[in-house]
Amino acid sequence: MMVFPQSLFTSPALRPLSLTFFTLIAYPVTAALRSDTLLLSCLQSSGISTVTPNSSSFAQDSLAFNRRFEYTPAAIVFPHSTEDVAVAVKCATLGDGNIPVSARSGGHSYGAFGLGGQDGTLVIDLSNLKNITVNQDHTANIQTGNRLGDVALALFANGERAMAHGTCPYVGIGGHAGCGGFGLASRAWGLVLDQVESAEVVIANGTILQASESTNSDLFWALRGASPSFGIVTEYKVRTQSAPPSNIVFSYTYSVDPSVASEILTSFQSFSQYSAPSELGLQLSVIPSRQPGIITLSFIGIYMGSLAAFNTTISPLISSVAVSPQTMNVTQFEWIPSLVRKGGIGTLDTSLRLDSSDTFFAKSLMVPHDAVLTPSAIRALFDYLGTEGVTTDTKWFVLADLFGGKGSIISDTPHNSTAYAQRNGLYNFQFYASSLDLQPPFPDDGIDFLNNLYSSITSNMPSNWSFGAYPCYADPTLSDMQWQTQYYGDHYPILQSIHSKYNPLGLFRYPQAIAA
Ligand SMILES: Cc1cc2nc3c(=O)[nH]c(=O)nc-3n(C[C@H](O)[C@H](O)[C@H](O)COP(=O)(O)OP(=O)(O)OC[C@H]3O[C@@H](n4cnc5c(N)ncnc54)[C@H](O)[C@@H]3O)c2cc1C
Ligand SMILES: *[C@@H]1O[C@H](CO)[C@@H](O)[C@H](O)[C@H]1NC(C)=O
Ligand SMILES: *[C@@H]1O[C@H](CO)[C@@H](O)[C@H](O)[C@H]1NC(C)=O
Ligand SMILES: *[C@@H]1O[C@H](CO)[C@@H](O)[C@H](O)[C@H]1NC(C)=O
Ligand SMILES: *[C@@H]1O[C@H](CO)[C@@H](O)[C@H](O)[C@H]1NC(C)=O
Ligand SMILES: *[C@@H]1O[C@H](CO)[C@@H](O)[C@H](O)[C@H]1NC(C)=O
Ligand SMILES: *[C@@H]1O[C@H](CO)[C@@H](O)[C@H](O)[C@H]1NC(C)=O
Ligand SMILES: *[C@@H]1O[C@H](CO)[C@@H](O)[C@H](O)[C@H]1NC(C)=O
Repeated sequence: MMVFPQSLFTSPALRPLSLTFFTLIAYPVTAALRSDTLLLSCLQSSGISTVTPNSSSFAQDSLAFNRRFEYTPAAIVFPHSTEDVAVAVKCATLGDGNIPVSARSGGHSYGAFGLGGQDGTLVIDLSNLKNITVNQDHTANIQTGNRLGDVALALFANGERAMAHGTCPYVGIGGHAGCGGFGLASRAWGLVLDQVESAEVVIANGTILQASESTNSDLFWALRGASPSFGIVTEYKVRTQSAPPSNIVFSYTYSVDPSVASEILTSFQSFSQYSAPSELGLQLSVIPSRQPGIITLSFIGIYMGSLAAFNTTISPLISSVAVSPQTMNVTQFEWIPSLVRKGGIGTLDTSLRLDSSDTFFAKSLMVPHDAVLTPSAIRALFDYLGTEGVTTDTKWFVLADLFGGKGSIISDTPHNSTAYAQRNGLYNFQFYASSLDLQPPFPDDGIDFLNNLYSSITSNMPSNWSFGAYPCYADPTLSDMQWQTQYYGDHYPILQSIHSKYNPLGLFRYPQAIAA
């Protein structure tokens, strides 16, 4: 990383006031002076670690987790404090104000939106903001440079606390909390955004604000579902739970023809609607069998409770399927080992090695609890997977995550309590296809393969079927009309009006940002 020399400004408190002034006297302002020149000189003056296109680490620091995308930022800054973030935001507003600004927490956006999803963005990388504090009242303050694995370890190390969040240890809490944040404990404890009590955020004019139910409550509402369009959250205060002592990690796997696979998904749907208790985190996973006409699918998840209670809970689902699973594994774990097991890389500590990467295209489909898939849509899905799913030159999976159902906090939280607009989702399909070696290029026909997989369902449902999409699985191929409706539904116009107050000029913008 190339670091600019420390500037004239030694006191951080002086920086915000002094910057504009300094820049104006140091560089004659003419019509020809471009925003990016002003940006770089302003960042240089600020003393914040900055990587520019001329820096030796620029290529590495500009890589997206999803290597299907390559974008060239205007600059990447690495602030060490909320004040630094505010200064960097102000630098981007100099000149004609045409430099878009994006926060990057874990960099795991499916559309590389942490890089702005386009060239020329000022990327504010939060990786130096790593504090986590557990308070006496069992809330925790978490700075947004933290990854989920490190959050879990820190909470547990401070009084055996826990919260619900996604399974991948390297996902950043910053992006995750802003779009949803689903994990296997979310039916019991909520999405990450449901667990947030307040946020510290830098808005587009460089002001640092607190947001909660009682302070800047409109901003607080918008942050919980659409944060990237409203500001840069530097810290969240969240509720935590006592880590459950017994966690049952389970899998029941079937290799069957499309007709039996259809029965299994039908069983999953009705068990999800009527029977699954909130302490059950349940997924139906489908992976390639490599044999035509054979579908490999599993019920997987974590149950927070005893082995005996798990057995009683899951038995109705397993016995509603006419065939027995080919393999099953039901293993009891303590809290952290259960997360390590589901995280899939043997550790939650992200300081031990660099993040991996992938080259992929994914779509989501949120199935409403009152309009689940019809038999013909289910059958079309498995017929497609039993044919095209075998010949494709992608490595794919389909995962149905149970969000709603009986007693789920996600569906029981009132629709208008946050900007998150998918509370009526029973379960969320994710359709995901990678290049075979996970490296670029993504196969030419991979996009069509996945789109056709998705439409095997949508084209076989009633034409007036109303479904959603999960904003955390950002799909850059959706049209404006599609993402606005599928992510945000009737919350979109409310978001627009709050946006006009906090980000009126669209400084925080990317291809799927809220806009006027
Ligand atoms: C391997 C993998 C596994 C995943 N597993 C799950 C899962 O189990 N459950 C689930 O719900 N989701 C999951 N996701 C999706 C994940 O929640 C989203 O991609 C999330 O947006 C990633 O956050 P990030 O901080 O890592 O990404 P980034 O790319 O850094 O950020 C994503 C978006 O949020 C914005 N942003 C980042 N930080 C902030 C901030 N502090 N303030 C405001 N805006 C910010 C960025 O500008 C960008 O628009 C997974 C993704 C991957 C790649
Ligand atoms: C980057 O390098 C180019 C070519 O060497 C030079 O013209 C330009 O001024 C440099 N930019 C910065 C910001 O240092
Ligand atoms: C992180 O926490 C430590 C110890 O509480 C504190 O000294 C430091 O100022 C905090 N850093 C930031 C960036 O808030
Ligand atoms: C429930 O427990 C019994 C006794 O151990 C076992 O035979 C059975 O397979 C379990 N059922 C499920 C669905 O795991
Ligand atoms: C079941 O899972 C546990 C933990 O993940 C693993 O150690 C064990 O080998 C698995 N057992 C079988 C039979 O696959
Ligand atoms: C939903 O909440 C937002 C933010 O508090 C508010 O502006 C809006 O009026 C509410 N809408 C309804 C229908 O209550
Ligand atoms: C869709 O159309 C069918 C048949 O015309 C009707 O019964 C159903 O109520 C409609 N559903 C919605 C969500 O409008
Ligand atoms: C920044 O924007 C907020 C929200 O619109 C406003 O309340 C505040 O006065 C603005 N501050 C400055 C310095 O412009």
